[in-house]
Amino acid sequence: MTRLGVEIGGLSLKNPVLTASGCFGYGLEYDDFYDVAELGGICTKGLSLHPRAGNPPERICETPAGMLNAIGLANVGVEAFCRDKLPILRERGVTVVANIFASSIADFVAITERLNRETGVAAVELNVSCPNVSEGGIEFGKDARMCGEVTRAVRSVTKLPVWVKMSPEAGNIVAVARACEEAGADAITAINTIRGMSIDVEQNKLRLANRTGGFSGPALRPIALRIVWEIAGAVSIPVIAIGGVSTTRDALEFLLAGATAVQVGTANFADPSAAKRVVDGLRAHCETRNVTVKSLIGSAR
Ligand SMILES: Cc1cc2nc3c(=O)[nH]c(=O)nc-3n(C[C@H](O)[C@H](O)[C@H](O)COP(=O)(O)O)c2cc1C
Repeated sequence: MTRLGVEIGGLSLKNPVLTASGCFGYGLEYDDFYDVAELGGICTKGLSLHPRAGNPPERICETPAGMLNAIGLANVGVEAFCRDKLPILRERGVTVVANIFASSIADFVAITERLNRETGVAAVELNVSCPNVSEGGIEFGKDARMCGEVTRAVRSVTKLPVWVKMSPEAGNIVAVARACEEAGADAITAINTIRGMSIDVEQNKLRLANRTGGFSGPALRPIALRIVWEIAGAVSIPVIAIGGVSTTRDALEFLLAGATAVQVGTANFADPSAAKRVVDGLRAHCETRNVTVKSLIGSAR
């Protein structure tokens, strides 16, 4: 285990920095910037059983200190991912976390069973918290019993580590995280976006065709930090933090609060090398202080 290495369930990551789902394509689009295999891992765009076109435009807009998106889980579908994307990622030695989405438990299971047939998938991340789709999504994520059921069903059909991604809109997010832990989750990832809106006052028109969108970016970070702190204090499985990470200091904040790893999302749109910068920054931080990342986890608690 190196200075930066962490363990999440049975999975060893070379460093605690991943890219967040939906903010890094399928990981193949960033070749011009750096070797993606240097990251702890990438989370794919949410994969569904069948390809999805997503919502009509406009689907994204900028806000102060963040952005709104209502992509609606546009993706190539699990079959095309396994055929066209995964082999390249596997060959390049990228640690791939398959983020998956479905509107029924049966489809969550079917996607997982398809992924089971492949090598090169390191873990499955269940998106039970998307705010931009009419069925499934956040309705699963708000309900501890439903989240537990989805987790249990996926757990029962795979040996892959199962991560479950929390919605900040769950009333009692700690109860949801605990239900997922009891159902066999290997890690909790937190958080997904929070629903927001924006109006173009010149045109007197909503900026997003979907009316609302998921809010992400730097302004989300204090909320995510509070939630990660609460969940890390309540479960004994690792917590992976997401929400407004764009610098090494941001990542450190989450690690000190008890996260075992972080995911970099919206920051990739402003700086495609953001996640790599965080890895390099963490390495420098740990070398200067002669500490390991592991020793930092939860040290501010
Ligand atoms: C354009 C966009 C698309 C996203 N798509 C997904 C997705 O497919 N699945 C998912 O679980 N989360 C998705 N997310 C949520 C992010 O993975 C992340 O949880 C959220 O943006 C907060 O992190 P950030 O502030 O670093 O962006 C998406 C976010 C954005 C901005």
